[in-house]
Amino acid sequence: MSEAHTLDQRDEKLREIRDELLSLTQSPLYEYRTQNNYFPVVGQGNHYATFMFIGEAPGKNEAQTGRPFCGAAGKILDKLLESVHIKREDVYITNIVKDRPQNNRDPEPEEIELYAPFLDRQIEIIRPKIIVTLGRFSMAYIMKRFGLEYELKPISVLHGTIHTSGSLVSFPVTIIPMYHPAASIYNTTTREQLFKDFQILKQFIET
Ligand code: URA
Repeated sequence: MSEAHTLDQRDEKLREIRDELLSLTQSPLYEYRTQNNYFPVVGQGNHYATFMFIGEAPGKNEAQTGRPFCGAAGKILDKLLESVHIKREDVYITNIVKDRPQNNRDPEPEEIELYAPFLDRQIEIIRPKIIVTLGRFSMAYIMKRFGLEYELKPISVLHGTIHTSGSLVSFPVTIIPMYHPAASIYNTTTREQLFKDFQILKQFIET
């Protein structure tokens, strides 16, 4: 085990989050999870990642496996990462809402409110340098959370732009909103834009 691991116990703190999510009976999505034998999707990847990707909420494949972005949108995310030579195992991938909303509907504000503190803790534990938000829900939440609400605009305007966090966090973070990969499944224009926008990430890759 590396010295960093023994010092900051990231694995243990992230495991605590997983355990709390597993027994989150007050969630409006808890019953749906248990009735369908779904898992909460906590997050996956490198606990020392430079890049953290934040989506919206798990879909069916994700809820069945407990792994984020492992369905159709995940395949696109894999290709996007590959296109800029970032390895999936080097980044951390999670969502704001950790349980699958019924039939992939949009998350409700109270669901975001309930699950967001878990995301906040994941960010504090992993301390990524770059947060890439995927879709409008994580963009809006993260921009507001990091004191950038005055820069908030529709995702059609902000996709692929770079924002430096205000003084609300104890470490500097760069926030880059991107379209959600699912929005590009049937829309080639959005898909081309996503691939273009991902090029921005290259400048932040640490060698
Ligand atoms: N869409 C998301 O927002 N997150 C996932 O994990 C999968 C699909």
